[in-house]
Amino acid sequence: MKIVTSIKTLRPILTRAKLQKKTIGFVPTMGALHEGHAELLKRCKKENNLSVLSIFVNPTQFGPHEDFRKYPREKTKDVLLAKKLNIDIIFYPSEEEIYPSGYLTYVKVERLTQNLCGRFRPGHFQGVATVVAKLMNIVSPDTMYLGQKDAQQCVIIKQMARDLNFPTAIKVVPTVRETKGDSKGLALSSRNKYLSQQERKEAAALYRALCLAKEKIRQGVRKASSIIKLIKSCISEGTSGQIQYIECVDADSLQPLKTLRGKVLIALAVWFRKARLIDNIIVTVK
Ligand code: PAJ
Repeated sequence: MKIVTSIKTLRPILTRAKLQKKTIGFVPTMGALHEGHAELLKRCKKENNLSVLSIFVNPTQFGPHEDFRKYPREKTKDVLLAKKLNIDIIFYPSEEEIYPSGYLTYVKVERLTQNLCGRFRPGHFQGVATVVAKLMNIVSPDTMYLGQKDAQQCVIIKQMARDLNFPTAIKVVPTVRETKGDSKGLALSSRNKYLSQQERKEAAALYRALCLAKEKIRQGVRKASSIIKLIKSCISEGTSGQIQYIECVDADSLQPLKTLRGKVLIALAVWFRKARLIDNIIVTVK
């Protein structure tokens, strides 16, 4: 496995692989890797001849009062996991490599960035779209892998790739969750590290609430407001978390729905003391 920090070194390696007709798979991350990231990497490894993982805590997607400085950085552990998974290349650029002094260009995706997380994190998705566009240009992957856990991010990046004519296929991998213990069902996230033991346990209620909502829909409930109310009471009664939003939107357009129909994304964000957690499910409603 190679750890490459410069674009100048990375490009010829990837060009050579392309000349040898190897397919390139790519997983962009911010590190502090967990089983969720591992699932993306395993899928990437399985479906491609050469697998590239990027680790870059992207400053432009953090707001001025967000956790950029204290975001977990665990290089040694991440490298070990990547080695275990037989990843071919880790691209580990410095901030200067991605945003050299004098950097001026940003990618803005309209409309899709306005609701859900975008409403509470102004500029966040512009930072995400910018860095992912840059990484896609640097790596030129045949296929890029993203996690369903960040549902809005997936929709925005797919739109960006389509609008800007990136030839890369984008595949979305289901959310990986805790499978046992008190926090069973909790979506894995690098930010779960900010939770206390008690909060981890409480945070499992987010997914329980989403599953309950799904069950209610199965039983025939179609009013978005009823579903939102149900999730809200589940979370506010069972946890110390502060709800930031709970929304039912169309899974492709991300536009809010009053009546549930088609592919519905139910997404939420909840603040625990130090961690803002997000989760979602997609329910197909006939
Ligand atoms: P990060 O939070 O490190 O996540 C990297 C990728 O892993 C994303 O596609 C995310 O959706 C996926 N992922 C995280 N937790 C997951 C889980 N529990 N199950 C499945 N997939 C999961 O998302 C980012 O980084 C950044 O915004 C990035 C795209 C790298 C741009 O900076």
